[in-house]
Amino acid sequence: MNKLLISLLVTFGISGVAQAEGDAAAGKANTAVCAACHSADGNSAVPNFPKLAGQNEAYLLKQLKEIKAGSRQVVEMTGMLNGFSDQDLANIAAFFASQKVQIGQTSQELVEAGQQIYRAGVMDKGVAACTACHSPNGTGNSSAGFPALSGQHAAYVEKQLMAFRNGARDNDPNGMMRDIAAKLSDTEIKAVADYVQGLH
Ligand code: HEC
Ligand code: HEC
Repeated sequence: MNKLLISLLVTFGISGVAQAEGDAAAGKANTAVCAACHSADGNSAVPNFPKLAGQNEAYLLKQLKEIKAGSRQVVEMTGMLNGFSDQDLANIAAFFASQKVQIGQTSQELVEAGQQIYRAGVMDKGVAACTACHSPNGTGNSSAGFPALSGQHAAYVEKQLMAFRNGARDNDPNGMMRDIAAKLSDTEIKAVADYVQGLH
């Protein structure tokens, strides 16, 4: 296949997630209830609650729609999004995307193992490098719907990788993350989760 055709296919394939058009100022007005867990600016202080600050808008909107619909289950947020329209959710996504994420720290003893997995994958198990989709500095790829991981809490990242591995989270397009997580050991998950917390 030639390059143009591939890029056209990619463009059409992702057009569904690329159309988030939110108004951040309008979104802010609806986030008071979120602050209890995610903090007012989206830099949650609790390691199990994800940081939303600086996350890609299209990814945030996809998660909000799926959490509202129940195709991604977040018990802590049960019913919380029911009163919001798609436009409200797009505005909320735009607000958190416009905030700046605070980067955490990677622990010394895990940095080498974590970096190896993040940058090179696990060759003998056929695990793709995380950089391929989440980018070398962890900002993801907004138009493709690949989330930023940079600065995300290690405990939350570890929980997501475990959930993809056991299928409790199954909202990843084409099982992209389930395929990867299925091949990672507990030790590898811990190391790469710790690594992204300090990545920027
Ligand atoms: C009672 C705590 C709580 C409140 C309040 C709350 N959330 Fe959450 N939220 C969570 C937890 C816990 C998760 C992660 C669940 C998991 O582990 O999959 C989450 C996940 C998310 C995610 C997915 C993040 C990602 O990186 O995939 C988004 C987006 C989100 N929340 C937005 C909101 C918004 C917007 C509000 C306010 C309208 C809100 N949350 C209110 C606890 C809360
Ligand atoms: C082929 C592309 C691809 C590769 C390679 C990839 N990911 Fe992902 N990842 C995704 C996509 C797409 C999502 C979002 C799924 C969704 O829409 O809910 C995601 C989501 C995640 C999430 C959840 C983020 C959140 O905020 O909840 C984590 C954590 C994650 N990936 C970690 C990794 C790690 C670690 C690696 C390397 C071992 C990796 N990914 C490799 C595509 C990829």
